[in-house]
Amino acid sequence: MQLFETRDDLQSHLAQIRRDGKKIGLVPTMGNLHQGHLALVDAAKQECDFVLSSIFVNPLQFGPNEDFENYPKSPDSDYEKLEQQGCDGVFEPAVSEMYPGDLDSQTLVTVLGLSERHCGVSRPMHFGGVCTIVSKLFNLTMPDLAFFGEKDFQQLQIIKKMVRDLCIPIKVIGIPTERMDNGLALSSRNFYLDNNQLEIASSLYKCLQNAAEKIETGNNNFFELEDEAALVLEDAGLRPEYFHICHAGTLEPASPSDQQLVILSAVWLGRTRLIDNIQIDLNG
Ligand code: PAF
Repeated sequence: MQLFETRDDLQSHLAQIRRDGKKIGLVPTMGNLHQGHLALVDAAKQECDFVLSSIFVNPLQFGPNEDFENYPKSPDSDYEKLEQQGCDGVFEPAVSEMYPGDLDSQTLVTVLGLSERHCGVSRPMHFGGVCTIVSKLFNLTMPDLAFFGEKDFQQLQIIKKMVRDLCIPIKVIGIPTERMDNGLALSSRNFYLDNNQLEIASSLYKCLQNAAEKIETGNNNFFELEDEAALVLEDAGLRPEYFHICHAGTLEPASPSDQQLVILSAVWLGRTRLIDNIQIDLNG
């Protein structure tokens, strides 16, 4: 597995890969890798000849009071895991390599509308930061396919829309969420939780499953289900930020005739913010 730290080294290597007619798969990450990331590498390995993972904690997607400075990092174990998973290359640039010049005067890529709801309400700059770094990674690596986790469902829909809107010739693939035995979605931020909190945090998925079951058995009183879920989350010791039953494509509030739904939720446990979702196919 090769490690690249500069854009020049990465681009000249990938140019050769492309000349050899190989298919490139990109797995963008912020490091501190877990089985969820490794599942993305696995999926990429199945479809591509050269799998590149990027590790970059992107300052532009963190708000002023968020955990950019403390974001968990584990480079040695990340390389080991990626190598074991059969990843072919890792791109781990410095901030100055990705954002030469002043962070405040960067060109930003923003997907309007979709970025402003759900997580975008409490994190107004977040998705602009995500889209900016993802487009830079796309331009630098020009992969055939790029893999993202469905745990960040809103992020995935925004990236898919960005690719459509900007005519970027890359296929974006969503991969199902990996979970602990208790249902908690794997996330780098679970690292902040102790064992007791990991158990409390699992109530989020249970609550999503519960609401999904009610919808699947005919309950379409969505506002009532959302209010009920908020109370259940509070009782479990979580502080809900939102619990929204949405149309799975537009992420607008669901209407009773919608068949493809997703429930998106963000909660706080102490100082840790967790997100999760569940998809519902009423035709399936
Ligand atoms: O999902 C993440 O880890 C990040 O938002 C991403 C896509 C790597 C961009 O920094």
